[in-house]
Amino acid sequence: MKVIVAENKIQGGAKAFELFEKEIKNGAKVLGLATGSTPETLYQNWVNSDLNCSNLTSINLDEYVGLTPDNPQSYHYFMQKHLFDKKPFKKTYIPDGTTKDPSVTCKEYDEIIKKNPIDLQLLGIGRNGHIAFNEPGTPFNIGTHEVKLTENTIKANSRFFDNIDDVPKSAICMGTANIMASKKIVLMAFGEKKAEAIKKTIEGPITEEVPASILQKHPDVTIICDKAAAQEL
Ligand code: GLP
Repeated sequence: MKVIVAENKIQGGAKAFELFEKEIKNGAKVLGLATGSTPETLYQNWVNSDLNCSNLTSINLDEYVGLTPDNPQSYHYFMQKHLFDKKPFKKTYIPDGTTKDPSVTCKEYDEIIKKNPIDLQLLGIGRNGHIAFNEPGTPFNIGTHEVKLTENTIKANSRFFDNIDDVPKSAICMGTANIMASKKIVLMAFGEKKAEAIKKTIEGPITEEVPASILQKHPDVTIICDKAAAQEL
């Protein structure tokens, strides 16, 4: 694993954009994209750039079950607002959170990923080491699946909602196996609340109790964190 420690999230976002830009200029066509507050500085750099995205396909990690794309808390809405409105892609995929049959939607999403192998996957990380919504205890070998969110994740994500009861209880998300199949992976983490998860991811044992620890087995991972997230390394 390569670890880049930036001064702060502004610098970290600029570093991450440099990396994406380089890969895209070198021919990356399918990008795995992520939501959350962490990638915002990357997306700011992206929309301010002159990078042409009309040849790119994106596949997002996850979506809440029950939120329509026009719901401001949905990941569809987030991606439109932070990237796609300003940088139109050739094709964008995000799991359908309004599906009546999540198991069919999950199978279809796995097919989409199979047909569009991901060149570069972006990840954030939860305080408990989760990636996408793969919570501690999720088997390493699964594909797209519906996930019941833990109390901790619901609490952490409630800051984006008016009321904690409005936070959806489940999500559709790529599995660790989908993520590990990407050719390259960039994980971003900012702030001291992520320090323990970053330490366990990089230095801890590989265990399903820390989903991101599986990244130690991937041949091409770059972790971009700020000094606060790197403080326990
Ligand atoms: C959510 C998302 C993850 C994200 C994590 C951390 O659970 N599903 O993809 O990495 O939150 O979010 P933040 O970047 O806001 O700290």
